[in-house]
Amino acid sequence: MPKVIFLPHEELCPDGAVVEAQTGDTILDIALKNGIGVEHACEKSCACVTCHLIVREGFDSLEESDELEDDMLDKAWGLEPESRLGCQACISDEDLVVEIPKYTVNLASEQH
Ligand code: FES
Repeated sequence: MPKVIFLPHEELCPDGAVVEAQTGDTILDIALKNGIGVEHACEKSCACVTCHLIVREGFDSLEESDELEDDMLDKAWGLEPESRLGCQACISDEDLVVEIPKYTVNLASEQH
């Protein structure tokens, strides 16, 4: 079973975490299942960027992002070449090392 290593994030998982995943799970679901509260303002429908994650290792094992995801990612805070939307990136059979960006852009709350 592939493993996902979450690097420490001050608020969401201060000590980092190593968790088991099933092939086909999204990175966001694995985080949430393990108590790591990554934001997901649009309920995983690829319509926000709050689930932005950076895949430090294993990026190439993920299926490529589609155009819609890339468009959304353009709005992400701290975009990097290895950025993905956690709700769209499905885990294959390789381990991943994932960084949770320090900030998220919550488009919904910005509009109020
Ligand atoms: Fe909104 Fe992933 S939860 S794009």
